[in-house]
Amino acid sequence: MGHSPFEGHLFVLMKLDMTTESYLSNMEELKALALKELEKARTAEELEQWRAAFLGRKGRVTQVVRALSGLSPHERPRAGAVANEAKTLLEARLAERQEALKGAELEQLSAQSIDVTLPGRQITLGGLHPVTQIVREICGVFTSMGFQVVEGPEVEWDAYNFEKLNIPQDHPARDMWSTLWVDYRDQQGRYPMLLRTHTSPMQARIMEQTMPPVRVVVPGKCYRYEATDATHESQFYQIEGLAVDEGITFAHLKGTLYEFARQVFGSDRKARFRCDYFPFVEPGVEMSIDCFACQGRGEEACRVCRGSGWIEIMGAGMVHPNVLRGVGYDPEVYTGFAFGLGPERIAMLKYGIEDIRLFYANDIRFLRQF
Ligand code: PHE
Repeated sequence: MGHSPFEGHLFVLMKLDMTTESYLSNMEELKALALKELEKARTAEELEQWRAAFLGRKGRVTQVVRALSGLSPHERPRAGAVANEAKTLLEARLAERQEALKGAELEQLSAQSIDVTLPGRQITLGGLHPVTQIVREICGVFTSMGFQVVEGPEVEWDAYNFEKLNIPQDHPARDMWSTLWVDYRDQQGRYPMLLRTHTSPMQARIMEQTMPPVRVVVPGKCYRYEATDATHESQFYQIEGLAVDEGITFAHLKGTLYEFARQVFGSDRKARFRCDYFPFVEPGVEMSIDCFACQGRGEEACRVCRGSGWIEIMGAGMVHPNVLRGVGYDPEVYTGFAFGLGPERIAMLKYGIEDIRLFYANDIRFLRQF
């Protein structure tokens, strides 16, 4: 602030020939002005500006007091007394205002002060999503059996998702996977890219890159163009498993998967294998666990197992010789087993969750339970 806000009120400076009467009336006028301006000052800074403007070394009151010397010696005492009285009054008023302001500031400060004895606010901690937890748990079971965890792309080539898995173009088995295609055509006008419908394409990718022995699990997201219901989602996780070596048999497959079921569900739960068809395995099976909702009784109204008493948790089988040949393995030397399981379904079985859609509905009341 360059200049005093009071400069607008130009005060008539005393002349040498002034009379006592005009001196006193000027003093009176100045006092009234000063008091009026003091009323307006709201902050410590404004009070200080006021002080400098009226009572400071070059302030107006100071100047008027100095002008006493322009009066005749016998007039000076009377005028001096009035001037001093005015000055003292203004100083006293200023002190009052400063005190009042300080009091108000203190009051405001204590109103804002912190009570250090109050108990702290509880911090809400985030947690791992239940699907992340179950994926980690399942991968842990397989790593304890010597499997390695690897991951792969969610946007995949038709070649890996289907062709190298013994599912040629226009093969009816493609209908098993309702596919979401990427809107991109190759030179033949075909759609070569898709959102992977399962984690099995990683079987081919891994075998192309390494020679046996292979023991891997592949967790990851998959996508299908499907209506949802209590046990189906259009976006879900799978965990693929693959073991290839000399002399691997179906007994290894069953032993590994029973051990997996025992570690995840405990030894009380029943598991069963039944024949199933997947183009990339031969023979192929599905593994099921007895339904938690109706305790495997297969009640007609059970919407979880739809009355069968069993819930399918994975497809599995011995890797098809065509697949082995396709990646450059000699099927006369190497055999292997593969499986693909659904972690959400396993979490449902393990925790008694009746609808798979709860996992992705983002309802904090559900997610907080895990
Ligand atoms: N990829 C199959 C599916 O999505 C599951 C599977 C994996 C079956 C590996 C056999 C072997 O349904």
